[in-house]
Amino acid sequence: MQLRIRSGSALRGMVTAPGDKSISHRALLLGALAQGDSAVYGWLPAADCQATLNAVRALGVVVEQHAPGDLIVHGRGLRGLCPPGAQAVLDCQGSGTTMRLLAGILAGYPAVSVLDGHAGLRRRPMERVAVPLRQMGAQVETTNGCPPITIRGGALHAIEYTMPVASAQVKSAILLAGLYADGETVVQQPGPARDHTERMLRAQGVHIVQHDDTVRLRPSEQPLAPLQLTVPADFSSAAFMLVAALLVPNSEVLLRQTNVNPTRTGLLDVLQAMGAHIQVGEVREQGGEPVADLLVHSATLRAGQVAGDLVVRMIDEFPIFAVAATQAYGSTVVRDAQELRVKESDRIAAVATELRKMGARIEEQADGFIVEGPATLQGAHVDSHGDHRLAMALVVAGLIARGETVVHGCEVIGDSFPDFVPMMRQLGAAIEEV
Ligand code: S3P
Repeated sequence: MQLRIRSGSALRGMVTAPGDKSISHRALLLGALAQGDSAVYGWLPAADCQATLNAVRALGVVVEQHAPGDLIVHGRGLRGLCPPGAQAVLDCQGSGTTMRLLAGILAGYPAVSVLDGHAGLRRRPMERVAVPLRQMGAQVETTNGCPPITIRGGALHAIEYTMPVASAQVKSAILLAGLYADGETVVQQPGPARDHTERMLRAQGVHIVQHDDTVRLRPSEQPLAPLQLTVPADFSSAAFMLVAALLVPNSEVLLRQTNVNPTRTGLLDVLQAMGAHIQVGEVREQGGEPVADLLVHSATLRAGQVAGDLVVRMIDEFPIFAVAATQAYGSTVVRDAQELRVKESDRIAAVATELRKMGARIEEQADGFIVEGPATLQGAHVDSHGDHRLAMALVVAGLIARGETVVHGCEVIGDSFPDFVPMMRQLGAAIEEV
């Protein structure tokens, strides 16, 4: 699917971004492990989360879907899943979160489980979960470090594990395996990776505490309580509309009730430091997460610097951040972001290649990129590289480019944000399918 974008119209209005993708995956997995029925509203009906829905159903969990985003998950208890054995592969499609979190759970089951996915997922590193799960006592085989992976789980021992990368997926896999371990599991993270698993497990009655970057979990004597959850709007989806409103002149957009969990809002901090006008309304709680309205106006940006913990707190936002950086005065430098090379695409190479086609001055670094701005972007034919976040970032770039931009490979937008085009059109963007 190709999208044709014309620049010109200001963006105005209020929208609510779709449900948080990370929390939607976890609602299914943790609901499946609960004793009793979990009610989930505002679940994200996107391809990645559908992969988790299919997988939990394949594990014997009944999930009623009353509306696309309204689910009842009939939990089977911590030990109640039915792994289908070596004959039936659990298909995680394109979703890294599905595979890595499920690996943690299935490590606790005395059964063989095989997890596989699409070509894109088969390129992503899985030793990062295999290594700690093996230390806990599971047998885990990867295929040259990647999917398919085979897990023979069973009695696990608790470990203290220092993660070499600040990954919420790895942390979550270890914590979920820790639910089946014989003592206290301790995870040291090198930076503040998103903490949704911890928040949700705590709400389910699990003893889990965090001091600085160390998380400790003790397995429960009690069954996990079912969830009553309204999934907050995904900051990472709101980010595309936020940057679009900043860059398209005369825009004013209100992003309602957006998740502002501090482990997710690094983009907000760096854009504000670069001169962005973003008003954060009153913070309240929804689904165990802080949410707030974000009011965004067009602004002139100066260059920014991103490194260290800030990278972790905006790990999914670099494609759209690079677009913002093309319009900022000076050299914007991103360092310490080598993780971007193993996302849905090699985001350092792919973002640089595609934005250069539009006239951006962006130089690839081993662990990031440098953007010289401001640059006048020109409409061009660009490609998503099979990466939903790159596709949406390029659409936003098209909104400020001279002439027409065509983004190829836009069907992947459905991995995280199926309503992206209608929502952008609602704000006034000129986007059509060709
Ligand atoms: C996610 C964690 C992050 C993020 C991904 C979702 C999660 O991945 O990039 O989109 O839901 O835990 P890493 O754990 O690989 O950093």
